[in-house]
Amino acid sequence: MNEQIEKAHFETIMALSEALDAKDSYTAGHSRRVMQYSARIAWRMGLGDRDFELLKKSALLHDLGKIGVPDAVLRKRDRLSDEEFGVIRAHPGIGADILKAVGSFRALVPAVYYHHERFDGLGYPDGLKGDDIPILARIISVADSFDAMTSDRAYRAAFPAAEALREIERNKGTQFDPQVADAFVSCSWDIITDINKGSFPEPEYYL
Ligand SMILES: [Fe+2]
Repeated sequence: MNEQIEKAHFETIMALSEALDAKDSYTAGHSRRVMQYSARIAWRMGLGDRDFELLKKSALLHDLGKIGVPDAVLRKRDRLSDEEFGVIRAHPGIGADILKAVGSFRALVPAVYYHHERFDGLGYPDGLKGDDIPILARIISVADSFDAMTSDRAYRAAFPAAEALREIERNKGTQFDPQVADAFVSCSWDIITDINKGSFPEPEYYL
């Protein structure tokens, strides 16, 4: 892709992710922060340029399938029923189906589809284990979990960043790829500094 087309492509992805986050005040900025945390992890891990580009875009659109999940389920404060869990668990597949339909988005499908897999094989949608889970999905999983823990949700207040970091450490090797979790912990100072400042580098910073 030439530079101008690539810029337009990235801007389209940013707009889509902002539209998604606007669905719910609790998720405002979530996709963008997951992209920013993922980018920091990828730098630390020395990911190649092509993977780095794919990672940023996939992270921005990781929850795209939530467009297909009713607001009443997404915003529910009480315990979800099994049926409602089933609806939530469909979102990686819905996101992948939307992306498959657009040629230039097709490369984002694996990371989006597998972002809720767990390293120990107990995740969804397919229960993939370890290195069978695409590396970009393993990175998004850590970034996504950290942001979910450090943000207020309809059903609970945010955890302090230090506590969320301990949780990432504690779930190393079970929920999270140990290498990715270590990379995240080793750049957590930068991330916590960004959070405390209340500002993050602009997306162009990562281009
Ligand atoms: Fe998700």
